[in-house]
Parts: sequence; C-alpha cells; structure tokens
Amino acid sequence: MAHEMSGEELRRYREQRGMNQQALVGWLNERLNRRYDRAKISRWETGAERIPQIVAGALKTATEPVGIPAAAVRAAPVVFCAANQKGGVAKTTTCVNVAWLLAQSGRRVLLIDCDPQANATVHLGVDPHERELAKATLTHALKASRPMKEFMTPVCDGAFDLLPSSISLAAADRELLRQPNGTLILRAKIAQLAGLYDFVVLDCPPHLGELTVSVLNAADQLLIPTQTEMLSMMGIPQLFETIAGVRELVNPRLQILGVLPTMYSPRRLQDETVMKELRELAAAEQLRLFSPVKRAADYSKSVMAGRPGLAYNPNSAGAESFREIADSLLALAGEEMRHGA
Ligand SMILES: Nc1ncnc2c1ncn2[C@@H]1O[C@H](COP(=O)(O)OP(=O)(O)OP(=O)(O)O)[C@@H](O)[C@H]1O
Ligand SMILES: [Mg+2]
Repeated sequence: MAHEMSGEELRRYREQRGMNQQALVGWLNERLNRRYDRAKISRWETGAERIPQIVAGALKTATEPVGIPAAAVRAAPVVFCAANQKGGVAKTTTCVNVAWLLAQSGRRVLLIDCDPQANATVHLGVDPHERELAKATLTHALKASRPMKEFMTPVCDGAFDLLPSSISLAAADRELLRQPNGTLILRAKIAQLAGLYDFVVLDCPPHLGELTVSVLNAADQLLIPTQTEMLSMMGIPQLFETIAGVRELVNPRLQILGVLPTMYSPRRLQDETVMKELRELAAAEQLRLFSPVKRAADYSKSVMAGRPGLAYNPNSAGAESFREIADSLLALAGEEMRHGA
C-alpha cells in the first residue's frame, strides 16, 4: 500500500515551493477539478483530517513546477500604495480590500499601515495600543535593526500579514524620518522582504509629510483614490508635483496605476460633474480611470466587524473596481517576471 502523506510533509512540500495555503488550494482545484478550500488544507496540515491519496499523488508526481510561478519565484515584491493628502477619500478602504483580493488569489501579501491614525490596523481587528505596549509596530520596525518579520501579525485568519501602526508613528514622522536619508528607511526595510512577499501594500496618512514621502520613495505603483465631490480633486496637482520630485530624485520606478473615484452617488449632479472632470484629467495625464466605487454602507459596517468590506460581503458595491485594481497589479507582477525585473 502507498505511503500516506503526513500533515508535516504536506506543509514542507508547500513551503518549499513558496506557496501559501490559498495558492495550494488554487493549484489542487485546477489540477484535480475539486473544490477544496484553505480550511481543508489547514486540517490536513494539522493532522485533523487524513490527506487523500489523490492529493498526495498529485503533489508527488507533478512534473511542472507546483504553484503559481509569478508568486513563487519572484524575488522583489510589487509595492503598491494609495495616496492622496485629502482626508477620508477611501485610501485605507482601498488598501485593505486590494490586499484581501491579492491574498485571495494566492499571493503572499503584507499590508503596512503607514498612518499614525492606525485606521487600517483597527480595520483589520488589531489593537494599536496593545501593539504599542508590545513594541511591535511600524515605528519599532523602522527603528530596529531586527528583521521586519518580527513586527508583523497575521490578519483575516492568516490570509495576509499586517505591520501595524500606532500613534507613536506621528513622533517618528517628526523625528526619525527627518534625519538625513530618513525617508529612505522604509524603502530599505521593504527591500529586505525580497522573496517573502509578492505584494506589499502601503496605506498613507492624509498629508504630504515625511511618511507619505517615505511611501512614495518605496512604491512601484501609486493609486490616487478621490471622492466624487467638488473639493476632493483640489490636492491632485500638488500630489503630481510631489510624485515628479520623488521620481527625479529617488525613485524612478514609481508609476501612477490610475485614479479611483470613490463614494460615488450616480444620481447626484455634483458627482456627475466631478466624474466628468476626472475623465478629462485622466485623458490629459494619460492615466487609467478605474470604475467608480459607489457609496455603500458595507464599508463602515465591515470596520466594526474588523474585516475588509469584501471579506464581509464579496458583492459589496465597488467590488468590481477593487478587482480591476488587484487584476492590474497581478498583471504587472506577471509582466515583470517575464522581463526578469
Ligand atoms: N464606498 C464607500 N461608501 C461609503 N462609505 C465608505 C466607502 N468607502 C469608504 N467609506 C467610509 O468612509 C470613511 C473614510 O474612508 P477611509 O478611512 O478608507 O478613507 P481614508 O482616505 O483612508 O481616510 P484618512 O484620510 O483619514 O486616512 C470610512 O468610515 C469608510 O468606512
Ligand atoms: Mg486612511
């Protein structure tokens, strides 16, 4: 009789191929035409359930590389950020949901909360105060010489990792990041994560201070979320100027992924007017305009539940827009792989 695969053996198989549990689910379901989920892989790995012969056989006899090549072998993660110095335009909501979708597609994702308000941290059910007491926040990671990994915590039942923020980041913005080369610390720390993540998602505070500049110095792809209200577009020219400076001096890789209209109410005249202006801006600047995210109560409710809106309700208004963004990042990651970037 064939030797059974143990949970420990399965975990080793998976990790050696740089896959998370979700990636393994995708590979097995496609190959074996099954509907396994991540919980099932967990039960196999902990030994709570026996691993079927067909699964063990598929893994042991696979001739092609197991896993998603783009995710498994890419060295440096794609670094994505959402920035706009205007407050309350759905930067955090976008980051949390895009991180969730990337993780759902089997990619290894880290979200770094770069805002002292710690909204992403709270949104993902983590207590910033407790993390501050445990000295396990972005502030501590920036100051320490220890690996970033030590400051992270898994969120959404292990779907992705979070490097939490807390109010002490405001002091870091004033002190640490204003030292010579201070706005390069985050970039250097992220460079140490090569091979560990496929995507790093950075959530910015609502101003163009040292933290936002640190994020722009580190990012490959920038999304500009903007509410479809008259005043929301006002800061965009200033943001363009900052981006141009960052590109010229520090980070020529930085690209604008596009503009995301948010909290859109199709029947309001003001929203229609702003949408028209955004279409003109996108055409003039040759930027992609993503489909607008409609106003929906799910997003505030999901904050209370400590989960991304799309984990709370996958069909929330705006799901399509967030999918467009995640898909364009996945396509970019694949593209860079092919060109060996
Ligand atoms: N499509 C939407 N419809 C209705 N409410 C939304 C939507 N998207 C986000 N919200 C809510 O709007 C508020 C602001 O969103 P969010 O915190 O994501 O913005 P932000 O740009 O990160 O804000 P800040 O500038 O303070 O960091 C939150 O309460 C969020 O739950
Ligand atoms: Mg925010």
